[in-house]
This record gives sequence, structure tokens and C-alpha cells, in this order.
Amino acid sequence: MTAALERDFFRQLRSISGNGQDSHLLDNNATTRTDPRVVEALLPYFTEKFGNSGSRNHSFGWEAEEAVEQAREQVGRLIGATAKEIIFSSGATESNNLALKGAVRDVTEEGNHLVTAVTEHKAVIDPSKRLEARRLPGHLPAGR
Ligand SMILES: Cc1ncc(COP(=O)(O)O)c(C=O)c1O
Repeated sequence: MTAALERDFFRQLRSISGNGQDSHLLDNNATTRTDPRVVEALLPYFTEKFGNSGSRNHSFGWEAEEAVEQAREQVGRLIGATAKEIIFSSGATESNNLALKGAVRDVTEEGNHLVTAVTEHKAVIDPSKRLEARRLPGHLPAGR
């Protein structure tokens, strides 16, 4: 690595992971800095526009629903999906549970299997073990 590349690498690393002091968080898969533009766009939904998007009978709900639908479309466009295919969850553990339990529901025919690896995150291993304990049809034990 040239000196210029190395300087650029560490400048970028500081801007992504630094806390302004001398500490750096390198596990940006676990959590990451929120882009200030995202914070700015979200702020009104913590203060004035705090309706529940599932509330269909008042303007607070309609306003929230419109924002969630817009976000679904924007995220869908980013990854080449339709808005209907985007499901927001509270985090990875919830998403992993939804995906695994949803997949198992459809794995009912003999010969179909759900296979997970022992190297998976605990949030994948734990629901896999629970599914294994229930001996759902077509489910192979994790790691085998
Ligand atoms: C693959 C994976 N699953 C689940 C989690 C847990 O994430 P959350 O705290 O969003 O549930 C993490 C966090 O690092 C992860 O990397």
C-alpha cells in the first residue's frame, strides 16, 4: 500500500468508525453511525409526526403511513425490490426469526430441508435450534 493510499484509508476509517476521541468501533455490522441526512429526515417523526402508521382513523396515522410507504419504495428501489417486498423490523434478531420461521413454514414436502451452519450468528443458531427441537418436517439439525 502506498503512503498516500494508507493515509486515505485511515482518514476514511476515522470518519466511519471514530467517536471523535481515540476510540474506533470496527463492528459496523452490529451497529453503525447514522448518516446525518437520515437523522435530519427522521427527526420530525420523533417530535411532531409521531403517529402509528397502522392507525387508519386519524391524520397522525395517515401521515405516518405515507412516510413508511415512501421509505418502502425508496429502499425497494435501492435493492431492486418492490415496495410490497420490503418489511421493516426492529433489528437483525427479529429479521432472522421471521426469515427462518417463515421459510420452515413452506418446507413441508419430504426432501426439502432448512440447513444452517454452526458458524452462524447466535441470532440464527438459537431459532434454528428451537425449530430443530420441534422436529418440523424437512428440517435438518444445525451444523450437520
Ligand atoms: C448476523 C447477525 N444477526 C443478528 C445480530 C443481532 O442484531 P440485533 O441486535 O439487531 O438483533 C447481529 C449483530 O451483530 C448479526 O451480525
